[in-house]
Amino acid sequence: MLVILKENAQEVGKEAARMVASAVRANPKIVLGLATGSTPLGMYEELAVLHRAGSLDFSKAASFNLDEYLGLAHDHPQSFHYFMHSNFFSHVNFSPDKIHIPDGSIRSNYSEYCDGYERSIKSAGGIDLQILGIGRNGHIGFNEPNSSLASRTRLKELTRETMEDNRRFFPPGAEIPECAITMGIGTILDARRVLILATGKSKAAAVAKAIEGPISAAVSASALQLHPEVTFIIDEDAAYALTQREYYQRVLELTKKYTPEKLA
Ligand code: PGA
Repeated sequence: MLVILKENAQEVGKEAARMVASAVRANPKIVLGLATGSTPLGMYEELAVLHRAGSLDFSKAASFNLDEYLGLAHDHPQSFHYFMHSNFFSHVNFSPDKIHIPDGSIRSNYSEYCDGYERSIKSAGGIDLQILGIGRNGHIGFNEPNSSLASRTRLKELTRETMEDNRRFFPPGAEIPECAITMGIGTILDARRVLILATGKSKAAAVAKAIEGPISAAVSASALQLHPEVTFIIDEDAAYALTQREYYQRVLELTKKYTPEKLA
């Protein structure tokens, strides 16, 4: 596990975009696992800037989104379909037939649908690089506490805490979705590489448990300790509760002091 500490949320977004861009350049047919939420917004903005500058081509890439609210139509402003199109896909050149987002508008045959999503990931060759945020309760995707660490794509009931965290995105008085379709923790662990981003003090406890705590179903993100290729990119606020925070800060200072040439 690699932990990269950055000064602030903007730098987290830039570093994540730099890593995604270099992965896309190395493998134009990359299969990306994508996340929504406020944390990856800076990364998406930066990727769009690189694309507009002509230095990043997504035309051969494919994507699978982590999750979607159940019961929201694709054009609902709070749906993850809407989020992805307005914040990312409409600014870059993905081929529409290579974009996959769970369909929250389905009304029946949920497990068949979820099994089909898993099969599409497999037939695309599996996810090369999975982007994640983390919830205050340690969830990744909508794998709420006590999700099975071997879980696959399925329907999941949201906790009160997650529903309250999501309320800020909905107009006052609107009904907040109670369920979502989400990739499972097992699905996420199958990705070849995982990049997880966290910013702000409200994530500090979850980040510390995910990185330094025991592996436990109580903190879904702690399952990432089992994955051989995980990078956390976090800002100083999100690193606040790490016992190893000073070490990561020293690495940050050394990275600023020494250019890659000097370290080589
Ligand atoms: P956020 O959500 O980026 O909006 O904080 C992250 C998550 O809940 O996974």
